[in-house]
Amino acid sequence: MDITQKLSLLGGLTPEQFMRRHWHKKPLLIRQAVALAQPLVSRSELFEMAASEDVESRLIVQEGNGGWSLKRGPLPRRSLPPTTQPGWTVLVQGVDLHRDAAHDLLQQFRFVPDARVDDLMVSWASDGGGVGPHFDSYDVFLLQVQGRRRWRIGRLEDPQLQPDVPLKILQNFIAEEEFVLEPGDMLYLPPRWAHDGVAEGECMTASIGFRAPARTELAREIMVRMLEAVEAEGDSPLYRDPRQPATETPGAIPEGLADYARDALQALLRDEASLQCALGEYLSEPKPQVWFEVGDAADLSGGVRLDRRSRMMYDERHVFFNGESYRAGGRDAKLMRVLADSRCLDARQVSQLSEGARELLERWGDDGWLHPA
Ligand code: SIN
Ligand code: CO
Repeated sequence: MDITQKLSLLGGLTPEQFMRRHWHKKPLLIRQAVALAQPLVSRSELFEMAASEDVESRLIVQEGNGGWSLKRGPLPRRSLPPTTQPGWTVLVQGVDLHRDAAHDLLQQFRFVPDARVDDLMVSWASDGGGVGPHFDSYDVFLLQVQGRRRWRIGRLEDPQLQPDVPLKILQNFIAEEEFVLEPGDMLYLPPRWAHDGVAEGECMTASIGFRAPARTELAREIMVRMLEAVEAEGDSPLYRDPRQPATETPGAIPEGLADYARDALQALLRDEASLQCALGEYLSEPKPQVWFEVGDAADLSGGVRLDRRSRMMYDERHVFFNGESYRAGGRDAKLMRVLADSRCLDARQVSQLSEGARELLERWGDDGWLHPA
């Protein structure tokens, strides 16, 4: 992607300008950001997805007494209120994993690293429906797909939530700005901006969501993987204490043991290559509900494209593909990086791969991770 090119997706800003001026900093309203030629997903398809075991979905209903109810999927059609009943919404996560049109839309946002992209959620709401005033911890682009939605947004002055409500609803929401979004319009919000979107008639909204690992989560995931790699190499040395004197305080933990524990952690951290590997494997891990259909050993010499569910990344020494790491160097590494960045290789690029790398490509094809272009 040319990050210096002005995009209607970003209201005429270049990705460079958008990232510098708005990303993580301030909201942006973009009229007619996306030309929605074909619908991302129809209402009935969305309801069908909400009913599936493999899809994460939620139903939120505003009760007559001003209360809220939340039900998590799978949501069979009969568990949804009639579409003519006002004040309810169904939200479906990961629509990009199931629909090419949604996956293609998400590709337009690849001026942000893949490691930060979460998914494309689609919500359908009946008249007056919404999830209430709240804030999210992550950046989001809210794209109006069908119908109209009135958004009210404001800085988060008071993060207190309403007690005894099954969803996170702000107790004191103060709107600073208000917009009505029509199909194709989009609103970008940085993390922790308060917002409330209310459907005006039937309404479909797509959220391009991002993810950011929490520090402890990242540390835990990396540690676990690094330890597994070390343990796979063989037995780990046991603590030894030939100089341990007789003790009159058996309850006290020997100092040597604390040193040994500290050394164990420091040795782990010194292994930079293993850390990089663990990070890439973690970040490229597919979502828990994802499974791949085994490929049919198709001929890949005409070019390849990644499956829409595949996650592929790289660093200086490795290529990471769906949670696995591969060492790569030279021309193979260059081409694998092209594959990760553009999600495809043409016939000429495939022919330039070494025999070993082509075999790997075939294995990935057999696993359903990529397909003939
Ligand atoms: C929605 O689509 O109704 C909710 C999106 C959001 O507020 O984050
Ligand atoms: Co939100």
